[in-house]
Amino acid sequence: VSNSRHFNVAIAGATGAVGAEFLKVLADRKFPIANLKLLASARSAGKTLMFDGKPYTVEELTEHSFQDVDIALFSAGGSQSKKYADAAVRAGAVVVDNSSAFRMDPRHPLVVPEVNPEDIGTHQGIIANPNCSTIIMLMAVYPLTKLGRIKRIVVSTYQAASGAGAAGMDELVEQTREYLAEKSLTKKVFPHQYAFNLFSHNSPVTENGYNEEEMKMMKETRKILHDDQIGVTATCVRVPVLRAHSEAINIEFEGARPSLEAIRDALAAFPGVQVRDDRAANHFPMPIEVSDNYDCFVGRIRNDLSNERAVDLFVAGDQVLKGAALNAVQIAEVLIEKFMPAKK
Ligand SMILES: NC(=O)c1ccc[n+]([C@@H]2O[C@H](COP(=O)([O-])OP(=O)(O)OC[C@H]3O[C@@H](n4cnc5c(N)ncnc54)[C@H](OP(=O)(O)O)[C@@H]3O)[C@@H](O)[C@H]2O)c1
Repeated sequence: VSNSRHFNVAIAGATGAVGAEFLKVLADRKFPIANLKLLASARSAGKTLMFDGKPYTVEELTEHSFQDVDIALFSAGGSQSKKYADAAVRAGAVVVDNSSAFRMDPRHPLVVPEVNPEDIGTHQGIIANPNCSTIIMLMAVYPLTKLGRIKRIVVSTYQAASGAGAAGMDELVEQTREYLAEKSLTKKVFPHQYAFNLFSHNSPVTENGYNEEEMKMMKETRKILHDDQIGVTATCVRVPVLRAHSEAINIEFEGARPSLEAIRDALAAFPGVQVRDDRAANHFPMPIEVSDNYDCFVGRIRNDLSNERAVDLFVAGDQVLKGAALNAVQIAEVLIEKFMPAKK
């Protein structure tokens, strides 16, 4: 960040899976922080977390947490965002929110910085971070919109335990141990056996048969791309992977499909994307290889033999990073560089 100004930053949900990544990403990208405030529930108040080699004490998140805060990064769940984001805005902070609380509210921009950074400038105090599966899908799909109008996307997800936070990862590890020891399996976070199994995404199933995760991918894509016509149909599945989501995507163009070469070039040139498409070695994007990586990996790039206007590809992305903390910090970076006037 080429900015000599420094900002007071608060992280609501600092002790969680996304919170831990916020701390790493802010330090790694040298975000210009004056004061840092770490907030979580009363359970964590008094705990110490390290940031950039220095200890910080966690405070309880309350309405009074945001005095003098310039940027508040929220990842404490939707109900905390609904309860406290307004207090943060009233105190003068700009909120970047990781929950689904504000995503579809027309007053609040929904942003993937590589896709629609200009929307950040329309904020009224709150900027929403999209759903992790939506972000990872758009990182692979958006570069292709430059080659021709996309009419329809058919996506199937292979989602990791970390999407359900630290407790989700613990459950997969614990169940795997129990399974191998031939013990009965402990289910606290997920409704079904997770070790050595997969199941339809654990978000509530809506009246139309899609679950909420699938509906998010469909609605958020239209809002981010400013395209009310684009069709998206999604099937979201939890797979026993600890970290990083993968997605198989079929993309149908309105007109003739671009060449595979043009598609590979567009993906390779796009910031935040790496092409991993080694047909000879049968080596394509994998969650273990993309974990802890800022970029999303795209491969399996091929023509759909059943539809002359469509192509298939496969993307993997670390959803705690690009799907959450990294994307939110990137939003904050654009915000301070382009849309936050200098004080005084
Ligand atoms: N995991 C992902 O990949 C992902 C991706 C995109 C968006 N998100 C969103 O990010 C948020 C956090 O997810 P996560 O995966 O990091 O969950 P997590 O590991 O369960 O962490 C939850 C965090 O919220 C805090 N919190 C919970 N209840 C609170 C309360 N009543 N008051 C104050 N703080 C409270 C927790 O504090 P304590 O430690 O004190 O309980 C903890 O810091 C959720 O909204 C989630 O939907 C997650």
